[in-house]
Amino acid sequence: MTTLADTATTPLGGPQLPQERRLVTALPGPRSAELLARKSDAVAAGVGHTVPVAAVAAGGGVVVDADGNSLIDLGSGIAVTTVGNAHPKVAAAVAAQAAQFTHTCFMISPYESYVAVAEALNRLTPGDFAKKSALFNSGAEAVENAVKIARKHTGRQAVVAFDHGYHGRTNLTMALTAKNQPYKNGFGPFAPRCTGRRCRTPSAMG
Ligand SMILES: Cc1ncc(COP(=O)(O)O)c(C=O)c1O
Repeated sequence: MTTLADTATTPLGGPQLPQERRLVTALPGPRSAELLARKSDAVAAGVGHTVPVAAVAAGGGVVVDADGNSLIDLGSGIAVTTVGNAHPKVAAAVAAQAAQFTHTCFMISPYESYVAVAEALNRLTPGDFAKKSALFNSGAEAVENAVKIARKHTGRQAVVAFDHGYHGRTNLTMALTAKNQPYKNGFGPFAPRCTGRRCRTPSAMG
């Protein structure tokens, strides 16, 4: 398999990357254009992209593309916005964990790091009462589980969503999301008693 990062010139990511905007080709450059053509052939059209570059490294606040252009990373994922991309402590922790084991289902074989994250969340979130946490794979899954837990606990079904709120792209979270385009149009029917229609008042609670 060919990979864009297999060249001797590809830098490693991390905050040691020069924190600069530097264009050495038009965008997209030839290697990015090559990947975008492969993407067009191989990836479903619904998975769009905003910036026409093929990222090969990122660090701090910049992303470097396959042609050596360095761009300010205004589109970085939520997972990196707090400490920057490829932070050495994050990279080392991921590598150390992957060398120990890559997956057990926590509900079959629990492990310490999950418990430690829950303990940290319980300590850092507001309130001096006893707290417990559960971890999920994505924001949408977290919202879905929050709704499940609230429904089971209260015995009530309806959910209030704020005007203009975005909650994700699964069926239930689309139902809670206000914005029709691009998130919902043509994807219904949606879960009932969740207002994609901007329910505003507590009287909407079931
Ligand atoms: C407020 C909010 N809720 C839910 C989500 C969905 O998260 P995910 O894309 O991880 O499913 C996002 C993602 O941007 C979000 O910003």
